[in-house]
Amino acid sequence: MELSEIVKHAFEDAFPGEDFSFVRVVPATDHKFGDYQCNDALKLAKRLGRNPREVGGAVAERLVKCAVFEKAEVAGPGFLNLTVASDWLDSCLIGLASKPSCGIPQVGIGKRIVIDYSSPNAAKQMHIGHIRSTVIGCAIDRIFRSLGYEVIADNHLGDWGTQFGILIKGYRECLTDEERKNLTVANLEKCYVLSAAKAKDEDGLWKDACRVELVKLQQGDSENLALWRRFIDISIGEFERMYRRLGVKFDTYRGESYYNKMMPGVVDKLVTAGLAVESEGALVVNLEEEKLGVAIVRKSDGGYNYTTSDLACVASRVAEYAPDRIIYVTDDRQQLHFKQFFYIAAKMGCTTKLVHVPFGLMSYQGRAISTREGNLIRLEDLLNEAVRRAGEIVKMRADMDDALVERLAEQIGIGAVKYADLSHDPATAIDFNWDKALALEGNSGPYLQYAYARVRSLLSKAGWQQGNVTVADGFAAALAEPAEKSLALQLLKFPGTVVRSAELYKPSILADYLFQTAQYYSSFYQNLPILRSDEPVRGARIRLCSLFGEVLKTGLALLGIETPEHI
Ligand code: ARG
Repeated sequence: MELSEIVKHAFEDAFPGEDFSFVRVVPATDHKFGDYQCNDALKLAKRLGRNPREVGGAVAERLVKCAVFEKAEVAGPGFLNLTVASDWLDSCLIGLASKPSCGIPQVGIGKRIVIDYSSPNAAKQMHIGHIRSTVIGCAIDRIFRSLGYEVIADNHLGDWGTQFGILIKGYRECLTDEERKNLTVANLEKCYVLSAAKAKDEDGLWKDACRVELVKLQQGDSENLALWRRFIDISIGEFERMYRRLGVKFDTYRGESYYNKMMPGVVDKLVTAGLAVESEGALVVNLEEEKLGVAIVRKSDGGYNYTTSDLACVASRVAEYAPDRIIYVTDDRQQLHFKQFFYIAAKMGCTTKLVHVPFGLMSYQGRAISTREGNLIRLEDLLNEAVRRAGEIVKMRADMDDALVERLAEQIGIGAVKYADLSHDPATAIDFNWDKALALEGNSGPYLQYAYARVRSLLSKAGWQQGNVTVADGFAAALAEPAEKSLALQLLKFPGTVVRSAELYKPSILADYLFQTAQYYSSFYQNLPILRSDEPVRGARIRLCSLFGEVLKTGLALLGIETPEHI
């Protein structure tokens, strides 16, 4: 249980019937007075019109009776100063060190989650704007898995729609034989741009021809269908190259096309339920009373759109997987779409918890990233540059063989890119900046990777190997100094932090925690002798170092960041 909870219980016990949701325990500003403090007795005393020192005293009396606190004292006008009992702390640390995955609670056992992320549009190259959904989605995926949930990671590719008429026409007439033979996503993008430009011709002939190709595709024409399939396969092949480098793995690639056949049925149901009505030739669901505007579910030309496709998709996922929750990770421009479609799904009887995790848009030099703006940086170029910069540093630091340098540079460069994104609250917008995205120092991925490598090297100097010193020997001898005790208390917060970052869908909470933990470790390491201290302190401190290493490695793995043993 978290300390705040324990203190809250003491308040409840002393003053039954009051609301104590405000009670918080914070680290003490001065360790002379204790490890933690709580200033909420003052708040309660004011509410009850009582003397704050008396109120604090009643709570303190209860706190010292539980095994968690060695001391609970009222100070000044009614502050509570709390000192944690070493025995309790020691047994918590032993518990943490002996449980798998550093004690992450298995609260998700028996529960299933579908998570829909990355989901780029086919036939276009991935660019820096795709990092966020991919990296945030992947971290949320890993965090939920670590909690014991069964997770189905689904890539909801944009693989259907009018662009395929333009692409098929462009493929046939705007590419050379050579380009058609060695088709790449770059070529597809090129022929799309050329063909879309021609579709703007005054005479409208090209546009009509694109339309004909689209209709043929929709009606199942075998030649167009085969071309479409090829475009999708090539796109997935290239996306997977990025995903492999990023350590991202999907269980399914069900794009919009997968739900195409289900669309008419969805629309029929909406009409039968009285939700969809005709409006100027189109079918719409009016959500104006809910302040959600109007959602079109069938256009006047008979085509279906994004809302219809997501409604078909949710029905299909519910029927096939019966998930407890479906999580969608997209940029925040899609908020209205998700509000509309969640509302309609609920009206149609969907009881599954649907969650949209919106993230702030990534811009570049203050402008939205788009092909039209011409400010598109390909994801692959970003990753290559990150790895190149990391490579320079690795070469400067160590004398290693080329293969090792290459592997390390990849781990560090990719770690930097991921952490730069994950350390921001998903809701904040990011203006892309090469130096920030590739930061190798300060609050960065490589800083944490370096902290891990450093602790591993200390442990190997100490002759520490998993198993040759039992954790049961405990940590009691390494809890006397404030720097070691603070680190120990911080390590105990790991399981709760993982739970909180899942509950709030914010990997940034975990990233912040890991950075803070590394800072606690660094102050412990700088202020206290470890290898040069005497037993039993030495052994206990080494065990604390090892536990720090495990927490850091486990936490970084949840963010999808690798932890090389040597840097
Ligand atoms: N392909 C969409 C895009 O690029 C994202 C799809 C998100 N998932 C969903 N089920 N709508 O914006």
